[in-house]
Amino acid sequence: MSDYILEIENLTKDFPGVRALDKVNLKVRRGEIHSLCGENGAGKSTLMSVISGVYPRGDYRGRVVYNGKETNYHNVKDSEKEGLAIIHQELALSPYLSIYENIFLGHMQTKFGFINWNRYIKESKKYLDRVGLHEPPETIVSRLGVGKQQLVEIARALSKKVELLILDEPTSSLNDDESEKLLKLILEFKKQGITSVMISHKLHEVLKVADTVTVLRDGKSVASYGVKEESLTEAKIIRDMVGRDLTHRFPERRSSPGDTVLEVKNWSVYHPDYHSIKVVDDVSFYLKKGEILAFCGPMGAGRTELMMSIFGKSYGSKSTGEVYIKGKKVELASTRAAMNAGLGYISEDRKNLGLILIQDVKTNISTSNLWRISRFGIVDSQQEIKEAEKYRKELNIRTPSVDQLTRNLSGGNQQKVVVSRTLAVNPDIFIVDEPTRGIDVGAKTEIYGILNDMVSRGKSVIIVSSELPEALGMADRIYVMNEGKIKGMLMHDEATQEKIMHMALVG
Ligand SMILES: Nc1ncnc2c1ncn2[C@@H]1O[C@H](COP(=O)(O)OP(=O)(O)OP(=O)(O)O)[C@@H](O)[C@H]1O
Ligand SMILES: [Mg+2]
Repeated sequence: MSDYILEIENLTKDFPGVRALDKVNLKVRRGEIHSLCGENGAGKSTLMSVISGVYPRGDYRGRVVYNGKETNYHNVKDSEKEGLAIIHQELALSPYLSIYENIFLGHMQTKFGFINWNRYIKESKKYLDRVGLHEPPETIVSRLGVGKQQLVEIARALSKKVELLILDEPTSSLNDDESEKLLKLILEFKKQGITSVMISHKLHEVLKVADTVTVLRDGKSVASYGVKEESLTEAKIIRDMVGRDLTHRFPERRSSPGDTVLEVKNWSVYHPDYHSIKVVDDVSFYLKKGEILAFCGPMGAGRTELMMSIFGKSYGSKSTGEVYIKGKKVELASTRAAMNAGLGYISEDRKNLGLILIQDVKTNISTSNLWRISRFGIVDSQQEIKEAEKYRKELNIRTPSVDQLTRNLSGGNQQKVVVSRTLAVNPDIFIVDEPTRGIDVGAKTEIYGILNDMVSRGKSVIIVSSELPEALGMADRIYVMNEGKIKGMLMHDEATQEKIMHMALVG
C-alpha cells in the first residue's frame, strides 16, 4: 500500500467567473494530521468538496487518488462508502431531530419495514463515548451548543467507519476549552489510525496538532511543510498565505476616550422560553466616546445575550434596568429604535441572523442602510454599487462582482459582507459579536484597522470576543463576564490572559 492515503494532482476547478482551484497538488500521508491553510477564498473548502464528491468527476480537471485508486464519486454518499467523512464549515445536522437520529440518519436498517430504535439509541452511546459527549441520545440537537453539535457530527462520521476525516474549520465557533478537547480528539483518532485533514485559520492550533501543513494561495498550492522537520512557525505560514510579511497584527492606536456615550445600569434579562432563568444578572457598565471595550468570558457567560437585549430587546424576556445614551435615558424597544439611537450590531450567528445568503453582495451591504442611498423611496442603484465596491476593496472581499449571490462566497468572505453591512450604517456605537470568526489573519488586521479608524473619528466600539489575544490587542478596557454577571474590569495596560481567566472564575 502507498504511504499516501490521498494524492491530488493538478486539480483545477472553475466556477462562473472564478478559478477556485488552479493545478493544485496535495499529498496526505496515511495516519497523519494534515492542515490546510490559506486566506479567505483561497479554495480550501472547494478542495475538500472535490475530494468528498460534493463536486463529481467531470466538474473538475485533474486527478484525485484515494487509497491508490482514482476516485469517481457522484456524490458524498459514494465517498462515505469508502471511508471518507467531511465535517463542513457550516454544520449540517437536522436541528429538530435527536442526537441518535442525526447519527444514523440515512443509514438505518429496517426489518420488515420497522426501525429498531432502541438498538440505535444504544449503539449511538458507543460513538458518543468515543467523542466524549455525555448527553442523552434522545436530546434534540437544537438544544445543544455549537461545540456539542460538532461532536455529534463527528460521532456520525465514526458510525460510518471513517478512514479519512476532513474537518473544515472545526474550532472556529468553539471557545478555548472546547477547541482543546476537539484537538485532543483528533490526536486520539490519529492513534487509532484515522487520517485527518483539518482546515483552520487558528495557526497556533495548526502548529499544535499537525504533522504536515499545506498552504493554498489564490487557488494554488504554494507550499507544503513537515511541521517538526522544518520547525515551522506561524510567521512562515502567514508569509505563504498572504505573499508578504505581516508584522503588526494589531495596528497601533493612541486612545483618548471622551465623555460617556453609553451607560447601562442594573440590566437583567430572563430566558425567552424559561422565564425563571436569569441569563443576564444585574449588569452595569459604561462606554466612552472614542473607546473600544471588550467583553470576555467563557461560553454561556451571557455576553451575546447582554448585547442582543440592549440592542432593541432582540433577546430574552422581562428585561429590566436602564440604558442611557449621551446621558439621556432611552427605551430601545425594537432594533429599529436601537439603530435610530445610533447603535449598530453585528451578530455572531452570521448564517441565521446576519445574512441573506440568497441575495447578492451589494443588496446585503445596503439592507440596513437603504434610507441613506434612497431618493424619494427608490434605491439609487449606482450609489448602492459604489458603496458595495468601496467595502469590497477595503476588506478585500473576494468575489467576481458585487452582483454575486452571497452564498457563493467563501465562509470568511460572507463574514466580511456582514461586517461591511454594519459599517455602511456608520453607527456611533458599534457592537460586534465575534467579528473575526472564520476570518484569515490578513483580513483580521484590516478589520482591526477599520475599527481603530472608527474610534479615532469619535465613534465607540464594543467587541464580544472569545479570542483573548484579540481582546487584549484591541480594547481600552475589558469587562469579564461569567454566569450572567460582570465579574470585573481590567484596563488595557494591566490585562493579561491569566488575569481574565482568573477573574471569570473567581471574580
Ligand atoms: N458555488 C460557488 N459558486 C461560485 N463561486 C464559488 C462557489 N463556491 C466557492 N466559490 C468561489 O471559489 C473561491 C474559493 O472558495 P472557498 O470556499 O473554497 O474558499 P476557502 O479557502 O474555503 O475560504 P474561507 O477561509 O473563507 O472559508 C472563492 O472565490 C469563492 O467565492
Ligand atoms: Mg472555507
